Amino acid sequence: MNSWEEIGEHSYLLNHAKSVEKCYNNNFQDEKIKQACFNKTLFHINVPYDRREEPDESNKLTKRRKRMKTIGALDEITQKILENHSSIQHKLLINSDRSYTNNKPALEFVDQFNTSTNYDGDKRFRGQNTTEQSIITEMDGEVFLIPPRVSFINSSVERFAEYIEQKETFDLIVLDPPWWNKYIRRVKAVNAKAAYRMLTNADIKAIPLERHLHQNTLVAVWCTNAPSHIEAVTKEFFPKWGIELVACWYWIKITSAGEPICQFKEPQHKQPYERIFIGLPAGSTMAKSFPSEWFLYSIPSAIHSHKPPLYDLFTSKFLPPHATCLELFARSLYPGCTSYGMEVLKLQNKRLYELATEDEDGKTDGCVALE
Ligand SMILES: C[S@@+](CC[C@H](N)C(=O)[O-])C[C@H]1O[C@@H](n2cnc3c(N)ncnc32)[C@H](O)[C@@H]1O
Repeated sequence: MNSWEEIGEHSYLLNHAKSVEKCYNNNFQDEKIKQACFNKTLFHINVPYDRREEPDESNKLTKRRKRMKTIGALDEITQKILENHSSIQHKLLINSDRSYTNNKPALEFVDQFNTSTNYDGDKRFRGQNTTEQSIITEMDGEVFLIPPRVSFINSSVERFAEYIEQKETFDLIVLDPPWWNKYIRRVKAVNAKAAYRMLTNADIKAIPLERHLHQNTLVAVWCTNAPSHIEAVTKEFFPKWGIELVACWYWIKITSAGEPICQFKEPQHKQPYERIFIGLPAGSTMAKSFPSEWFLYSIPSAIHSHKPPLYDLFTSKFLPPHATCLELFARSLYPGCTSYGMEVLKLQNKRLYELATEDEDGKTDGCVALE
């Protein structure tokens, strides 16, 4: 069930909301619930963030008024991504809805979610759903959606060895570290609930991942464009974990009209893309044939740092269909995966979803069922 569509050579497009909808499988323990999907407002990102201040009219004209997509002298990688984007831009128009909301409803929805919900990251708990049905459960006054075939651990990685058995290996390990950065420090100062804690490079390197690899375990690390983070993954973490770098993929964040969510800029500035470094254990039989460079496109949700799920992409191309996956620093659950992090259920909160329910006459109301 791959929700990534191939749109060009080495280029893929994901409908994030749809891939999450598939997880729930039209199969809930509570038979009245027929389907669940993310609240669509979350993905109503229709104007690049650096053009939000412009009057509505000028944004409507963007198709006719070819705009500069860049600022300053681009480095080689940024230039390559810009060229890839230009070559497939015509395939990126995801949403035929041409309303220009300036992303406001999406941002307000997330603000409201952050201020009205409580998530105690310090609380330690674990759970699982080994069935094929989705479950709805309550904890500390909040309601959470639990998809089929998941397990989760809410804890700091410092206690990783207590929860993940030493001999347990995974086919795929995905990490999205809480990199130490100025932006999160600023968010924290304004609204502590919207920010998360951060870790130093040394803390991340200390995670004993090397114990949980088999010969062909794929390790994927989400990385910012900060040179210190890039260096840390490739020169420190991977060698410590016994991993060799085989690929660097790019996630390009686009609006519903297919434009980058901000301009491509000179180095050291915020870019519309992030990197995913992929490694395999030394001597892996998969290393030679693994694609070294892919371009992944999707509309990001308005939730800060919310990444698209990679599991389907990896299982459809490189791993067996029921591959085991460990996602570290997770905020959500995905069938087939063990999620671990201090906010492991945060984005499973029912407030972020629309549910389709069936009434006594068999009529369904709520989110639209999958096509
Ligand atoms: C970059 S975010 C991950 C975002 C996630 N991949 C998503 O798509 O929503 C990093 C996460 O790591 C969590 N975190 C911070 N310190 C941690 C620690 N010591 N142990 C485990 N998780 C931690 C944060 O609370 C945050 O949820």
